[in-house]
Amino acid sequence: VVLYSLLIQNAAQVLTLAGGASNKPLAGSELSSWCITENGYVACVGETIVAVGPMSELDQACLGPETRIIDATGRVVLPGLVECHTHLVFGGNRAHEFERKLRGESYLDILASGGGILSTVRATRAASEAELLENALYHLDGFRRYGVTTVEAKSGYGLDRDTEQRLVRVARQAGRQQPVRVVPTFLGAHVVPPEFKAAGPQAYVDFILHDVLSDLKGEAAFVDIFCEEGAFPLDVSRYYLEQAHKMGFGLKIHAEQLHDLGGCEMAAALGATSVDHCDYLTPAAAARIAQQTQGQTVAVLLPLVPLFLRQEKYAPGREFIDNGLPVAVSTDFNPGSCPSKNLWLALSVACLKMGLTPKEAVAAATLNAAWAIGRAADCGSLEPGKRADVLVLDLGSVAEIPYWLGENPVRDVVIAGALQ
Ligand code: NIG
Ligand code: FE
Repeated sequence: VVLYSLLIQNAAQVLTLAGGASNKPLAGSELSSWCITENGYVACVGETIVAVGPMSELDQACLGPETRIIDATGRVVLPGLVECHTHLVFGGNRAHEFERKLRGESYLDILASGGGILSTVRATRAASEAELLENALYHLDGFRRYGVTTVEAKSGYGLDRDTEQRLVRVARQAGRQQPVRVVPTFLGAHVVPPEFKAAGPQAYVDFILHDVLSDLKGEAAFVDIFCEEGAFPLDVSRYYLEQAHKMGFGLKIHAEQLHDLGGCEMAAALGATSVDHCDYLTPAAAARIAQQTQGQTVAVLLPLVPLFLRQEKYAPGREFIDNGLPVAVSTDFNPGSCPSKNLWLALSVACLKMGLTPKEAVAAATLNAAWAIGRAADCGSLEPGKRADVLVLDLGSVAEIPYWLGENPVRDVVIAGALQ
């Protein structure tokens, strides 16, 4: 027998997330019908989960003197959270814009006046690589304390060749220097930089396709674009994603955040792994996406963004789920529209403002979030063969997860079989 290196035992509930289709994201009733094992255990050998089940089936022969035991009596055990949409690497912050916003200036007005994303671009260009890395490591440490064990990290505050490539490099380097896994996405098409203001969005995406993205093969898993008024129009976004797809990148889009331009349907038709924000995506369009993509494209819901931008419109997550569209939930951590790394709070707001149930919310930040970044084979559920990313919470049931508003319920974080 191979002896367990780690055993988490006596859990009141083990949220396995197992039991849905294994070849695509959870959709419809699968988002809430996954298995909970009562009085259960999770066993690991090295970096990998090898067994999950009720205590009555625990094989005592696999316990040795070297087995580290974590007792989870009365507590919930679940997979490490997956943060599938962040802008992790940036310089400065936007606290100076907070009061402008409180006085009623909108996100797009602040951007049009040269602030917003462009203000962070100036701070990021001025920062050294070492400073950017130090900031990214600081935020990853915060994510880890919230029980986030995998983080997607977008570039997008450089908007020139050197800075954009530096941001991808910093994300990768940060992933190597601490235990949380980092999945880099190239968001060079975040907004049109001042240098291309006269030439326009098409000229700018041609520049990034030829001079920036060509050097990032194998470095960034995904290419993303902000399709919005004041950013990139639908036709330029389509052209850009088509070209990026031909270069072999996975596709993502920021779309239907502030207006309905049809970006989500466009990107889904090109095979996008995820379509993100979706506050203005209609339930009918969601149904068409679910059908066209056969449930492969995930809608990433970012409920802390409308909250922080003082908008009343939240993505109709309930209708998306009822219409068969798989959903994930993320913070969108960034200095402008969500300076929070509290994914637990995002789950609460997803329930309160988007109509998800607690079980759906948990699936949206674990297994479906893993699908949204192409990592469902390694993380997002407690199943033998996956990387041993496991949390023990100071709570007794799944129903309590979105209930304790704004709390961090994490007691223990295990990443790749190692207790942090
Ligand atoms: O996902 N909407 C576009 N981009 C980011 C915000 C970036 C920023 O404001 O710095 C988002 O909300
Ligand atoms: Fe974003």
